[in-house]
Amino acid sequence: MTVHFIGAGPGAPDLLTLRGRDLIAASPVCLYAGSLIPAAVLAHCPPGARIVNTAPMALDDIVAEIAAAHATGQDVARLHSGDLSVWSAMGEQLRRLRALDIPCTVTPGVPAFAAAAAALEAELTLPELGQSLVLTRTPGRASTMPPRESLANFAVTGATLAIHLSIHNLATVVADLAPAYGEDCPVAVVWRASWPDQRVVRATLGTVEQAVAGSMERTALILVGRVLAAEGFAESSLYAADYDRRFRPQDATSRFIGVTE
Ligand SMILES: C[S@@+](CC[C@H](N)C(=O)[O-])C[C@H]1O[C@@H](n2cnc3c(N)ncnc32)[C@H](O)[C@@H]1O
Repeated sequence: MTVHFIGAGPGAPDLLTLRGRDLIAASPVCLYAGSLIPAAVLAHCPPGARIVNTAPMALDDIVAEIAAAHATGQDVARLHSGDLSVWSAMGEQLRRLRALDIPCTVTPGVPAFAAAAAALEAELTLPELGQSLVLTRTPGRASTMPPRESLANFAVTGATLAIHLSIHNLATVVADLAPAYGEDCPVAVVWRASWPDQRVVRATLGTVEQAVAGSMERTALILVGRVLAAEGFAESSLYAADYDRRFRPQDATSRFIGVTE
């Protein structure tokens, strides 16, 4: 018996990985995390599967469900939205399951920030302009932030920011970032990226509060950075015609001539 943690992706059912789909189809028990898992993903469960929404459950109850499946030798598909490496609460479940000697696997999923960037048709790292992406959040009722991980501290770097779980804190986000990024810094807010009702607001730090005007709640990602509206950025050296590289030696003197690996 194995518990398969599966990243179910940002919402669109066809953004589930093939591996994730196959593991769901092979598991007689499916535990899924609330409303962010679309019904079409749950439709991959085999006929007669036990399908449990864990949104109203405490960690003890979730572990008890898994332990019961373990006792009867039934594999469990454990679904969380997006990818499991960020804000999935997988860590605490893994710790409990390891203590119980219950085997687990982890299958990645498409994270929300990638779906939001796709909705914007944007690359979040552009040559010379932005080469770092910070995945972060603001404090919530159930989660404090380590003191040095403040938006103001990240702002010092000027990196592109993907701010999760924070649409209700938009005013604070703006107040913390505007001094370093400038009021004219581009912002995009993507609500329910990849869902049929996806919405995108493009603005600046100076205008985003008015542009959103409370119209987006809960499942929204705030992206901040100069890369979002950049036009005149440099092209990458890697694809420059005169760049000497392993796969495209420039001439007979290239250090890559004769290099096979
Ligand atoms: C608990 S976190 C889950 C993150 C997820 N594990 C991931 O890989 O993206 C939930 C937050 O992720 C963001 N989020 C998740 N799905 C989203 C989507 N489809 N569109 C926009 N933001 C999304 C929102 O900021 C939301 O508050």
